[in-house]
Amino acid sequence: MKIEIQCFYFLALLVLPIYAATVLGGKSGAGGVLPGGWQPIKNVTEPHVTEIGEFAVEEYNKESKSQLKFLSVVKGETQVVAGTNYRLIVATKVGGLTKNYQAVVWEKTWEHFRNLTSFTPVNA
Ligand SMILES: *[C@@H]1O[C@H](CO)[C@@H](O)[C@H](O)[C@H]1NC(C)=O
Ligand SMILES: *[C@@H]1O[C@H](CO)[C@@H](O)[C@H](O)[C@H]1NC(C)=O
Repeated sequence: MKIEIQCFYFLALLVLPIYAATVLGGKSGAGGVLPGGWQPIKNVTEPHVTEIGEFAVEEYNKESKSQLKFLSVVKGETQVVAGTNYRLIVATKVGGLTKNYQAVVWEKTWEHFRNLTSFTPVNA
């Protein structure tokens, strides 16, 4: 009986770290809430998310003298880091063509600070 219990603990010690690594180390957003991890945005049609998407397209247009028209946010994730990072897939339209971009916007609401960190085309 004693030996069986020790065996159980030994097994548990072996298996637990592997289990934890699988659950936590996998994709960001799955598993536990890791600090600095990306969390999927559940509702990308929320006004605030739309606003961030529009901001990204406007900033990109200003910086690159483009004329993309914001259509919608297709999907997105957020990351909390001294503010919030938004990583959004935004649909845009230019010259009759729809094109998706991945935009990263860093926002610090309390400072009314927003910055477009990156804006790169993605294959739709
Ligand atoms: C998503 O947000 C929009 C705008 O706030 C709302 O109209 C809609 O009902 C929400 N959808 C879900 C599934 O919560
Ligand atoms: C905003 O982002 C741009 C890169 O897109 C960077 O050059 C600039 O320094 C950033 N501004 C601030 C205030 O962080």
